[in-house]
Amino acid sequence: MSGITHDYMEEYLRGLIGDREDELYELEKYAEENAVPIVQKEAGKFLEFMVSMKKPKKILELGTAIGYSAILMSKAANGNADITSIERDENMVSIAENNISKYNFNDKIKVIQGDCLEILEKLDGKFDLIFMDAGKGHYNHFLPHCLRLLAEEGIIISDNVLFRGMVATNDLVKRRKITIVKRMRDYLETISKDKDLITTIIPMGDGIAVTKRR
Ligand SMILES: C[S@@+](CC[C@H](N)C(=O)[O-])C[C@H]1O[C@@H](n2cnc3c(N)ncnc32)[C@H](O)[C@@H]1O
Repeated sequence: MSGITHDYMEEYLRGLIGDREDELYELEKYAEENAVPIVQKEAGKFLEFMVSMKKPKKILELGTAIGYSAILMSKAANGNADITSIERDENMVSIAENNISKYNFNDKIKVIQGDCLEILEKLDGKFDLIFMDAGKGHYNHFLPHCLRLLAEEGIIISDNVLFRGMVATNDLVKRRKITIVKRMRDYLETISKDKDLITTIIPMGDGIAVTKRR
């Protein structure tokens, strides 16, 4: 069990989504074989839906890994979005850049190598959609920067916010994860209680929060 939904529900929903047939399928296989964490299938579909609905011109992603979600978002935007993605692991950056080039997304996706916090501090511009998918223990630290970089009508989508259910109940918490869990609870409190923001938290995948300004 994922700690969030029942296995039968996950299997059913994944069955409805089905297998992808394009480059995303190859990237999913690579991620599985090499134990690279990428966005879960249902969360990927949600992301695709949100991009297709919101039609963002500029997207910021925290956590590139092998470039899977960046390519997914670029495809969902029909190539009409410029995506900036931040990744600190040099090896991941090189794999992501190879994939981006191999599948011809060079002019749409730019990867910046470095720690999110350091890069965010220096980053300018306004983004219509920000996908937070790096450094689970640091979402609260990224948030002020993301809000500064968020366009007036922009949305922030944060992944893994329920962290295998641990965020919702102490019964599931593993000792070595306690700091991340506490920090994620703080993050969810902040985005849920800030009167200037409106947030919805969806128990899908590993837990997704969607936040915008009121
Ligand atoms: C869950 S993976 C991203 C998956 C990707 N968004 C996808 O779905 O295809 C998280 C990535 O964030 C990177 N990361 C973690 N903490 C980071 C930080 N503080 N700054 C930059 N990258 C970070 C990790 O190296 C890892 O590759």
